[in-house]
Amino acid sequence: MAAPADSVHRKAVDSLSAQYTRVRAQSLSLTETLAPEDTVVQSMPDVSPTKWHLAHVTWFFERFVLESFVPGYERLEDAYDYLFNSYYYTAGQMHARPKRGLLSRPTLAQVFDYRAHVDEHMQQLLDRRGDDTELAAVVTLGLNHEQQHQELLLTDIKHVLSRNPLQPAFDPDLPGAPSQSVDAYAFANSTSGIRRVGAEGDGFCFDNETPRHDAILRDHRIGTRLVTNREFREFVKDGGYADSTLWLSDGWTTVNQEGWGRPLYWSDDLGHEFTLGGLRGIDEHAPVTHVSFYEADAFARWAGARLPTEFEWETAAAERPVDGNLLQSGFLHPVSGGGAAQFFGDAWEWTSSPYAPYPGFVPLAGSLGEYNGKFMCNQMTARGGSCVTSDDHVRASYRNFFYPHQRWQFFGIRLAKDGHD
Ligand SMILES: [Fe+2]
Repeated sequence: MAAPADSVHRKAVDSLSAQYTRVRAQSLSLTETLAPEDTVVQSMPDVSPTKWHLAHVTWFFERFVLESFVPGYERLEDAYDYLFNSYYYTAGQMHARPKRGLLSRPTLAQVFDYRAHVDEHMQQLLDRRGDDTELAAVVTLGLNHEQQHQELLLTDIKHVLSRNPLQPAFDPDLPGAPSQSVDAYAFANSTSGIRRVGAEGDGFCFDNETPRHDAILRDHRIGTRLVTNREFREFVKDGGYADSTLWLSDGWTTVNQEGWGRPLYWSDDLGHEFTLGGLRGIDEHAPVTHVSFYEADAFARWAGARLPTEFEWETAAAERPVDGNLLQSGFLHPVSGGGAAQFFGDAWEWTSSPYAPYPGFVPLAGSLGEYNGKFMCNQMTARGGSCVTSDDHVRASYRNFFYPHQRWQFFGIRLAKDGHD
């Protein structure tokens, strides 16, 4: 992956057509190490098969671009409109999410044909009308959508492969991230008072990052890096998973129902973890990942701290250059050593903030209004982007959102404390 500075420059000079070609090719490149059989499996309802991701992002362009902007456009296969719609009820009925793993047909080869069919018509359209503002807005959303699914594809295939007793690697040659020791966990005084938060400027953002507005921040300190595997192992060995006083009620219920005693991909001996490169020894200095909001919250309480709010996080991140470990995100591992302040490109950071609309929030018009807004209930906001997030998406205002029990994403922990030193 390219460095952020290159990314910004690239976006500025790329035509929409070139951006389309680049993003679509990136999706295919993620399948190069996989067998067709790998791409069909759905290991749990939160996970979608690789093949489904490849088809769904294609459906998005067909349904929301080609069918709107190309008179007389003919679908390759009508049934795909049902199979590959995710959650857009205003666009029609859809195949049930937990049953995506039953789709042995269409085959992977047929999905590649579907992609080629849509690509051909998209390129013709972009050649004809690439400077159409309305078209460009939907295509740009479609490209950002596909990049979100590239991240999901990697996150999901990691879970799929982890459930195979053979423990196959996504890429056995994936280089390990360089290990680098870290200093004791520290906090820095952070900006307080009335702060502007939310997306600004002319660059792309999702509707849930708007409108920009004022937030009140009390005096607080924010952790200067992510919590490491070694620090989280201390929590495990100290009986953190067995101490009800550390947990929210729903978290304690979940811990007991699920039998949790360590992060999702750690081995019984707490010495190894499953990675996209296969089973590997745990890097003690790398950020702990694949913990739920409940685990992050319990760890923070054990450590005598708390999680930051999303606006505390955003204010601190916005004051730092996007120069963290994202530069090394090609490793597909969180990177040890702390980087600048590790705000971007290692792990999604749980915040204490529920995912809610900003004051004055207006979803996109039409079916695309279903993209973000309707999920603003019972989920928590995560910030920063992970080692498998597209570098195009790294910005301080970017919001992701997940249910508090979910662990399969690259979720990590940053701590905060009240008051200034
Ligand atoms: Fe989607």
